[in-house]
Amino acid sequence: FAQAAPFKIGLILPMTGGQATTGRQIEAAVRLWIAQNGDTVAGRKVQLIVKDDTSLPDVTRRVAQELVVNDKVDVLAGFGITPSALAVAPIATQSKTPQVVMAAATSSITEASPYIVRSSFTLPQAAVAMGDWAPKNNIKTVVTLVTDYGPGIDAEKYFSERFLFNGGKVLDKLRVPLRNPDFAPFLQKVRDLKPDALFVFVPSGAGAAVMKQFGERGMDKAGIRLIGTGDVTDDDQLNDMGEVALGVVTSHHYSTAHPSAANKKFVDEFMKANKGLRPNFMAVGGYDGMRVIYEALKKTGGKGGGDALLAGMKGQIFESPRGPVFIDAQTRDIVQNIYLRKVEKKDGQLWNLEFDVLKDVKDPGKSK
Ligand code: DHB
Repeated sequence: FAQAAPFKIGLILPMTGGQATTGRQIEAAVRLWIAQNGDTVAGRKVQLIVKDDTSLPDVTRRVAQELVVNDKVDVLAGFGITPSALAVAPIATQSKTPQVVMAAATSSITEASPYIVRSSFTLPQAAVAMGDWAPKNNIKTVVTLVTDYGPGIDAEKYFSERFLFNGGKVLDKLRVPLRNPDFAPFLQKVRDLKPDALFVFVPSGAGAAVMKQFGERGMDKAGIRLIGTGDVTDDDQLNDMGEVALGVVTSHHYSTAHPSAANKKFVDEFMKANKGLRPNFMAVGGYDGMRVIYEALKKTGGKGGGDALLAGMKGQIFESPRGPVFIDAQTRDIVQNIYLRKVEKKDGQLWNLEFDVLKDVKDPGKSK
């Protein structure tokens, strides 16, 4: 009898350009998943096709179109930034191809197509916890500094609203461009305003530059604390950020230092396969996205099909390296724990060490 065609996963990532660390992390995690779980699912051979979109949404759209029309992929996956995820949503809908968003984190993305399932997180999910923590910890005034696009605007809104609700005061809201940001003039403004803390969202890969300039301007010495979602203390870069990062508190869904057996195995094997590179929250989004795809394919007995795969993705419950998670069948977002973490030195290295947890957090952006 005829051999079934391979099950094709089109993985679109920023492998070059400003978001290249995201592409590198996710590709490594996807390859680790395949190495650990094999390339055959329910008797069906799995084929991975990796494409670089350089994080330009026009390129993401063209590459996705080619993958669907020419390669006839069964699933589209990856999507390093929000504009790339949104650019592909109409293609997913029209071709009934599941689109697994492994990185991008603006709340509204899952509303752009009923074929989108997300294995990363949302900024409202991560930011609200900080809006509760800060006022209880002697932070009464803040300035927010965010990258000026979807996730930054979500972070600014959801952090500020909760912070205000808890009696805090936002002195100013600053936004920096996504491409080639210069943080210096914004940080000078923050220094002049002298808030108790600066709340930051920048995408993965940009945190080290913020931290460096924050230190160079002596803002920490001037008594301004740095807080944010965990994107700014990105584990991909954290260990090279130096003393200025010590004590920075963030809220996020994943830390390389998360203490569980499942995470220890994930981190050890990831680092071994990637010359000591630490997996960050992008890697865990890619790894869990692969689990979601594999389990869905299993549920179809290897047959696949857009609608059947989508049905198999909804409602999955499993233990991720980040902790227990489930794919909300209604919203197609991931429900997960959000941890409060503080940067500390342990065994000569910097880590985001968890000290508190909010369990089973849904995306607050969907409950309006
Ligand atoms: C997005 C990108 C990031 O690198 C990140 O840390 C969070 C969100 C985004 O574009 O959605």
